[in-house]
Amino acid sequence: MKKSEKKTIPSGFLAMIVLVIFISGISTILISGHKINIRQQNAVDSKKIAENTSSYDSVSGLSSDAIAPNAFEDKNNLPEGYKTISVLNEDVNKGQLILVNYQYESKIDGENLVDLYDNVSDSVGVKDDDMFINNAVLKPMNKLFDDFKAAKGSTGILISSSYRSKADQIKIYEESVKHTGEKSTAYYVAIPGYSEHQTGYCFDTAAYNYDGEMIELDGEGVYSWLIENCKNYGFILRYPNDKTNITGIGYEGWHFRYVGVPHAIAIMENKICLEEYILGLQKYTFEDGPLLIDKGDQGKWLVYYVPKLEAFNNTDVPVPVDSEKCSYTISGNNIGGFIVTVNVTKDPDNALLSKAKTSWSCDNSSLIIKDFVDYNPDSDNFVDTSTDTEDNWQSDTFWDDSDDSNSEYSDYYDSSSEYYDYDDSTDYDENL
Ligand code: DAL
Ligand code: ZN
Repeated sequence: MKKSEKKTIPSGFLAMIVLVIFISGISTILISGHKINIRQQNAVDSKKIAENTSSYDSVSGLSSDAIAPNAFEDKNNLPEGYKTISVLNEDVNKGQLILVNYQYESKIDGENLVDLYDNVSDSVGVKDDDMFINNAVLKPMNKLFDDFKAAKGSTGILISSSYRSKADQIKIYEESVKHTGEKSTAYYVAIPGYSEHQTGYCFDTAAYNYDGEMIELDGEGVYSWLIENCKNYGFILRYPNDKTNITGIGYEGWHFRYVGVPHAIAIMENKICLEEYILGLQKYTFEDGPLLIDKGDQGKWLVYYVPKLEAFNNTDVPVPVDSEKCSYTISGNNIGGFIVTVNVTKDPDNALLSKAKTSWSCDNSSLIIKDFVDYNPDSDNFVDTSTDTEDNWQSDTFWDDSDDSNSEYSDYYDSSSEYYDYDDSTDYDENL
C-alpha cells in the first residue's frame, strides 16, 4: 500500500508539472510572437513615414526595414517647448544660408525667382528687363535702396546682375578671359557652377560714368552707405578686402548677398566672411549650445546647427513647438547640415537660452587657402598672401553696438561728382 501510494503521488505531480510547462510554453511563444510582430510593425510604420516624407529613391545598402535613428526618440532629451520635425536631406542645398564658393558648388538653379523689372523699387535702376532674384531677397532689397536714396539722394545706382544660370556664367567667364585675361578672371569671376549668382540670393550694383560706360561700384564715397547699412536689411558684403584668401575672390565693393537680418548683423559686426560664419557655426549645435545674437530692441535670435543624418533620406530637426511665439526658419548650409534660426524676442524664458553662447569664436585655420595666390589688379603682379592670416582667432567683443553710428557718412556727398571721378580704362562691360 505504502509502496503503491508512494508511486501514485509522484505520477500525478509530474503530470501537473508537464501540464504547467506545456501551457507556459505556449504562452511564451505567443507573447514572443506578439512582441516580434509589434517590433516589425513599428519598423514598417517608420519606414512608411520615411518614404512618405522623402522624394529620394531608396538608399542602397540599407536593410529593408532600416529606419533613420532618431537622436531625440527619448522626448526627455528635448528641452521644454521643443519638438522635432523631419526635414529632407536633399534640402541641405537650399535656403538663404547656403555657402557657394570655389569649394561648394551650387546645387540649385535659382529657386523661387521673381522678375526684377516689374518688382524693383523706383529707387534703383536695373540693367536689363530680363533679370531675376530670389523672392526672399526682393522686399529687403527694395527697402535697402529706398533708404539709401532717402539718405543720399539720387545717385544713378542700378542693379547690374542678379540671378545667373550656369550658362550665363560660362559666357561671362569666357568673355572675361577674352577681355581681361585669365589672372583677372580667376580673381573676380567664379567658375561656372560655383557662382553665388546661380543661387539667386545676390546682386551687383553699378552706375554709368560720363562716357556711358557701366561700372561696378567699389563701395567708396556715397556708396559706402550700402556697406555700412546693408546688415540691417539682411545683406552682407560678400567679398571683403581682407578675406580674399578665404573667399578665393578679390574685393568686390558691388556684390551683396542676402542671408537674413540676424546673420548679416553677426557677419558684418564680427568682420568675418560667409565662409568663416557658416563653417564656424558647425560648433554651435542644439545639444552643445546655440549662438545667441542679441540686438536688444532690434531682436534676439538663437542659431544652431543640425548635421544631416548621413545615409538616410531625412533628418530630425529640433524646432520650437509654439511657432507664433518663437518663429523659426531652417536653411541648408550646402555642406552637410541645417541651420535653424529661432526668434526668441518674445520668449525670454526659452529653455535653450540657458545653454546659449553669446560670443562668436571659431578656429578658422582650416579655412585658409594655403596656396592661394592673390592677384593685384593695379600692378598685375602676383602677391602670395597665404601667410597673412592668423591661424586662430576669436573675439568676445562682438555684438558691440558702439560702431553702429553712421556719423562719418552723415555729410552729404555729391554722388555724381564722386562717381564720375572713377578711373577706369576698360570698355569691357563687366558683369561680375
Ligand atoms: N564675381 C562673383 C565672384 C561671381 O562670379 O560669382
Ligand atoms: Zn556679383
